[in-house]
Amino acid sequence: MSKKLYITTAIPYVNGKPHIGHALDYLIADIWARYHRANGQEVKFQAGTDEHGNKNAAKAVEAGLTPQQYVDQSHVNFKDFITALGVQYTDFVRTTDAHHVSSVQYIWQKLLPYIYKGTYEGWYCNGCESFVTDKEAQANNGVCPDHQQPYTRLSEDNYYFKLSSFTEQIRAALDAHKFEIVPKFRENEFRSLLDSGLQDISISRPKKSLSWGVPVPGDDSQVMYVWIDALSNYITVIGYPDDPTWQEYWPADIQVVGKDILRFHAAIWPAMLIGLDLPLPKKLLVHGHIGSGGVKMSKSIGNVVDPMEVIENYGVDGFRYYFSRHIPTLDDGDFTWEKFETAYNTELSNELGNLVQRVVAMVNRYQAGVIGEGVKAEHDSQAYHDAMHDLEFNKALDAVWVTIRSLNQYLEDVKPWEVAKRKDTDPDSVGHLEEILLHAVGTLQQIAELLTPFMPTTAAAITKIFEGGVITPYEGVLFPKKYLHTTDPHGSPAPVVAPAPQQPAQ
Ligand code: MSP
Repeated sequence: MSKKLYITTAIPYVNGKPHIGHALDYLIADIWARYHRANGQEVKFQAGTDEHGNKNAAKAVEAGLTPQQYVDQSHVNFKDFITALGVQYTDFVRTTDAHHVSSVQYIWQKLLPYIYKGTYEGWYCNGCESFVTDKEAQANNGVCPDHQQPYTRLSEDNYYFKLSSFTEQIRAALDAHKFEIVPKFRENEFRSLLDSGLQDISISRPKKSLSWGVPVPGDDSQVMYVWIDALSNYITVIGYPDDPTWQEYWPADIQVVGKDILRFHAAIWPAMLIGLDLPLPKKLLVHGHIGSGGVKMSKSIGNVVDPMEVIENYGVDGFRYYFSRHIPTLDDGDFTWEKFETAYNTELSNELGNLVQRVVAMVNRYQAGVIGEGVKAEHDSQAYHDAMHDLEFNKALDAVWVTIRSLNQYLEDVKPWEVAKRKDTDPDSVGHLEEILLHAVGTLQQIAELLTPFMPTTAAAITKIFEGGVITPYEGVLFPKKYLHTTDPHGSPAPVVAPAPQQPAQ
């Protein structure tokens, strides 16, 4: 069977509302998927929710619901969120799905040669739902830096997975580029972990400590640790093991995860795959974390940004723009309302929105809306495609903005409004003006094409305006100016909507 493209995203816990960090996984995957689909490729795109484990069970208790009732309600917020982001996923998996649960039990049984029973004692973080090494607990002074909760000392019967025996095979896969971690500095970070040797991990817990999870086959007293269950989603969702279509998609081309879960995806997951006799994913794309004002977003600081507030006020493409251009794809990034609104007003409203309006106004005014023939894309888009290939989507958008800015500059330089004034006296200026406007329209069409994976609605709107050789009027304003968090430099009270330029600048 031939291999089709497959991209995956981390499945979030459903014990809270979707937040900005979750958006990054979906957005990165969506940009990649749309880019490849535009090339005529079929892309499978998985999303899902991680619904087992103590975190979710604790929330259910708070809400006075059974865990199943709670996750049935809360997973919907994530589905709605993905839709609000304009993300075109193809498959959605819930770890409570019956097919997923039975497949995970099958996976466990296939991994039995690497599983043994033992007693574990160590430091455990309830928030991470994982043990940490003594070294790590010490380095963090006994408190989990992610959850600001002290580690607890736990001793219990567990099943273990012989992760240690996979160290060399994982290293060999990295060396042979069969499995790649992007960016390189994350791979190096992980390689130093390999150098100290992977340790066996506990993969189940007694039912009394963890009741909400997949039961261990053949041992009623134990429930699977949430990560074995969760990581399996990437193959159960495509039908593993019973529906052979999974073979058309696995290995995944890209698995998108945040830096905090690199270890699970670079060590445990590949080891499971090797144990199952399956190939490793081709690439693990590790994005950074989004902070706010240089610090981690946290409820106690009160700087948590609700992504829906961004989308409701600035539109989904405004959101997608900032998070794909101003948050580097492969590193940490920062969001503040001021930075966001400044980028929105300057780059989207002025540089892009006004540019489109200006060109439309000139074609309407000087050529009665007729664009003419021979529109062509002239700009070299190699830098853009290279950046897309390197998974540095922010750099791809930088390249588009170089074109946007140079078109603005070009219009300032050639001054079509001056050329138009000479129409009656200089017969050449009619043709000259037409050429200028053809160039401008051609460039905008090319810009729209390059923006499609990032801002699909805007790109489609621009394409439609210039389609078919005549201007099709656009209802409304592309990216109306907003002054909800910054001051309008042109005075107050701040207009909510920028006046659309009726005439080209003189
Ligand atoms: N349930 C696990 C993932 C299992 S995947 C088999 C989990 N869930 S999570 O809800 O905590 O995180 C989901 C994704 O959101 C991860 O990729 C994580 O890195 C990302 N982010 C969570 N907070 C983030 C930021 N502040 N910034 C960017 N991404 C972050 O881990």
